[in-house]
Amino acid sequence: SWTTTNVVEEQIALIREQVGTRRAICGLSGGVDSAVAAALVQRAIGDQLTCVYVDHGLMRKGETEQVEKDFVAATGVQLKVVDASERFLDALAGVSDPEEKRKIIGREFIRVFEQAQAEIVAEAGVTGEPVEFLVQGTLYPDVVESGGGTGTANIKSHHNVGGLPEDLQFQLVEPLRKLFKDEVRMVGQELGLPEEIVHRQPFPGPGLGIRIVGEVTRERLDLLREADAIAREELTAAGLDREIWQCPVVLLADVRSVGVQGDGRTYGHPVVLRPVSSEDAMTADWSRLPYDVLARISTRITNEVKDVNRVVLDVTSKPPGTIEWE
Ligand code: XMP
Repeated sequence: SWTTTNVVEEQIALIREQVGTRRAICGLSGGVDSAVAAALVQRAIGDQLTCVYVDHGLMRKGETEQVEKDFVAATGVQLKVVDASERFLDALAGVSDPEEKRKIIGREFIRVFEQAQAEIVAEAGVTGEPVEFLVQGTLYPDVVESGGGTGTANIKSHHNVGGLPEDLQFQLVEPLRKLFKDEVRMVGQELGLPEEIVHRQPFPGPGLGIRIVGEVTRERLDLLREADAIAREELTAAGLDREIWQCPVVLLADVRSVGVQGDGRTYGHPVVLRPVSSEDAMTADWSRLPYDVLARISTRITNEVKDVNRVVLDVTSKPPGTIEWE
């Protein structure tokens, strides 16, 4: 019968059989799938696994630390962190077009990851067993989607930063291939992963890069990161995390409006709250959040985030609006 304990034990045996004494690499994205896949493989083969986390500088507040500290503490995994935020920001300088941003972020991500991969392969070559495996957090719905039919047309180029192009150099280890998302979360829980990772809501691979309407700069990222953290904190405090699918916070960086604070006139940016309810992100409805929660988020953001003087609510369903603004 299906129990998470059985799934974990069965997968550990299969991974050991597949990898033997050789070595494996796994890219961590901060998301639940790659985290659970890595934790399973770590259980099976320990230090024969090395994880790579590319910090593109576009994560939300605390997310990189969650991977670097909490995930490592919970699993004992060997982790190589590459701080590439400068490189990503340089590549994004002057770019406002959403698809252009996605292309740049995807391209840079693959370059940085491949370089880290090559370094790990080279280091292992000196000391012992070869690196022959790449771990991926492919789920059952991904398998079905790529195997059959055309699926639903993608409006946006959704390269998931966690999902890299198949590399012929490596064989794939995909321990989640038979699982649905809720089962993956149960396995993650069984493996003792941090709650914030196991129950993380969807977050796009290109991160906050596609939640700044306009050019992405360090200053703008800092503003958005603060505003987003406040919204998430208040939604969590109100117990609404499981009710909403996700709530993007979007910075309208090229828009300014007049406000008043204390005795002074302000001229700042608006942020948009985009809380949605959904089953699969293909369609969505805007979430009817309680007014007092919206009020707390608005008050806190305008008080605490310098240069943000207006909070607006997106009341568009999908279609016609997409969930993200870009
Ligand atoms: P949209 O905006 O198309 O989003 O309604 C649907 C779901 O996909 C997420 N999303 C992305 N995920 N890379 C990703 O990995 C992307 O480029 C990307 N764009 C949107 C979005 O957060 C929502 O859950």
